[in-house]
Amino acid sequence: MCGIAGYIGNRKAAPILIEMLRLLEYRGYDSVGIATMDSRGRIRISKGVGSIDKVLKEKKLDSLPGNIGIGHTRWSTHGIVSEENAHPHTDCTGKIAIVHNGVIQNYFEIKRELLAKGHRFYSETDTEVVAHLIEELLKEGKTILEALRESIKRLQGDFSIVLLASPERRLYFMKKGLLPLIIGKGKGEAFVASDVIALAPYTKRVLYLEDGSYGYVSRDEIKVENVYGKPLPKRKNISIDASRIDKGGFAHRMHKEIYDIPHFASLFVSYAEHHIKGAIELLETYDKIRIIGAGSSYHASLYGEMVLSRIYKNKHIKAIVASEFPNRIDLVEDDLVIAVSQSGETYDVLEPVRRLKENGVPVLAIVNRRNSELDRIATERVYIEAGVERAVAATKTFVNQVLAFAALGGLESLNEVPKAFDKILKERRNRSGLGSEKLDEAALRIAKSLYDKPSAFYLGRYLGYVAAKEGALKIKEVSYIHAESYPSGELKHGPLALISKDFPVILISYSEKHVRKDRSTYEEVISRGANAYVITFDSLVENFEGASYISLPDVDENVSTAILVVPLFLIAYHAAVLRGYDPDKPRNLAKSVTVE
Ligand code: M6R
Repeated sequence: MCGIAGYIGNRKAAPILIEMLRLLEYRGYDSVGIATMDSRGRIRISKGVGSIDKVLKEKKLDSLPGNIGIGHTRWSTHGIVSEENAHPHTDCTGKIAIVHNGVIQNYFEIKRELLAKGHRFYSETDTEVVAHLIEELLKEGKTILEALRESIKRLQGDFSIVLLASPERRLYFMKKGLLPLIIGKGKGEAFVASDVIALAPYTKRVLYLEDGSYGYVSRDEIKVENVYGKPLPKRKNISIDASRIDKGGFAHRMHKEIYDIPHFASLFVSYAEHHIKGAIELLETYDKIRIIGAGSSYHASLYGEMVLSRIYKNKHIKAIVASEFPNRIDLVEDDLVIAVSQSGETYDVLEPVRRLKENGVPVLAIVNRRNSELDRIATERVYIEAGVERAVAATKTFVNQVLAFAALGGLESLNEVPKAFDKILKERRNRSGLGSEKLDEAALRIAKSLYDKPSAFYLGRYLGYVAAKEGALKIKEVSYIHAESYPSGELKHGPLALISKDFPVILISYSEKHVRKDRSTYEEVISRGANAYVITFDSLVENFEGASYISLPDVDENVSTAILVVPLFLIAYHAAVLRGYDPDKPRNLAKSVTVE
């Protein structure tokens, strides 16, 4: 959460910072700001509420002078969304400007001390405290590096910070805990960012800073020290395919990323052929396995629990919402923990993983972003190979997480999946019950009939229930329609009371085993006036005669969850657009949730 960027070099800093922030905007889009230092060493700041495009227009961010600067795109934690709370923040003298990602847990106590010493604060943020603390430490006679070292010791929490300290022509930084901070070096210039994506257009080799690092970069020097005495990490190559980062002709990233599913699914299937032996061996060694993840990654974990339990019949496998894991003291003695996270940055996942590792518990990561914190601290990893996902809603990465569990289970049917994706997203006209629509058109038709309704139910059994949960999350997240998912059999135990005329119900039916019951559920809801839509497979569709349905090409039911979610993603996408929302930037959310 929060994107931070820094540039120093021969070029004008502001336009570069804006481009870097554009690439980071998915980490937060409440407000945006830039600070640069002009040739006389004066720090100039421009900031405002809203998206980069909006603030750029209103405040002419790109006109700030100077070849050195820092920038920030905010997801609010401390303090409301306002211009005052937008970063960068400064000290009393205006000589220190700071951008920050993370939370300073003891900011209030330090703020009180600093207020007593006469410091004046202009925002409600925890960040501003850091600028004043450094000012105070400099006043005591410390050098900037000493002040940074002392700050890491005094400030509690996980944070990454980049700062300007006039008149020094250096980008200073410090990092404590789990949040990423990465340095990129070019010829006569240097970059700092909270996500390697922002460095990809400028440099190919980068340095991922360790916990406890502080130092500076100038045009031709990188200096890194570490509070805990950790050695300087080696530079790494950036492995991002920058050509796949843009919208590729689609109006929205979410839509494009859904259409990227066939490409990345087959990439993963090829990867899995050769690269997951170590992970499977690890899995086979342990009898008790816990799977943790948040949001969509939790839903993939649930799929993992269901499908792996079918395959490894003697193992006890359980999926748990990551933030609840620390509360499950009954599970502390676990043998193996599988941690699922697209970003590899989610605090709710990293926090327990860090503690488990300290206690010697092996952690198998299922992760998308290479070199993320989770990737680095895990015992073993499976990369889901889903490329960069920038829409806040997880789509192609959820699909590949599901495929990763199918691969860990040794499911041969994994190989059928890319072909099925090609069929539904590239070639096939869908059997939607209304003739020859494409899948996208069928999803749009369903979205048109529910986008103006306040609520919807998503129902399914077993693996279909996982798809229902994911579909409901997606439509809530991007279109703000209140959607709830239930195992279909639960409906009659309460929620059925909500069904009345035109209430939308999406019913997932994926297995011969459940289809008769699914038909009964369908009857139960339509007899009470609901608008029901069935998402099913070609071999089952005759059971839903008379219904409005989307029928998908048959695949082995163990991998069906990966296919079933595609129409659900498209329905959510179209509902958001029909309601006039930007599905790529849902309100109140950010892509990487790096706070607890
Ligand atoms: O990066 P992670 O997979 O750890 O993220 C976990 C959730 O925050 C994420 O899946 C979230 O639920 C998605 N935005 C849902 O579409």
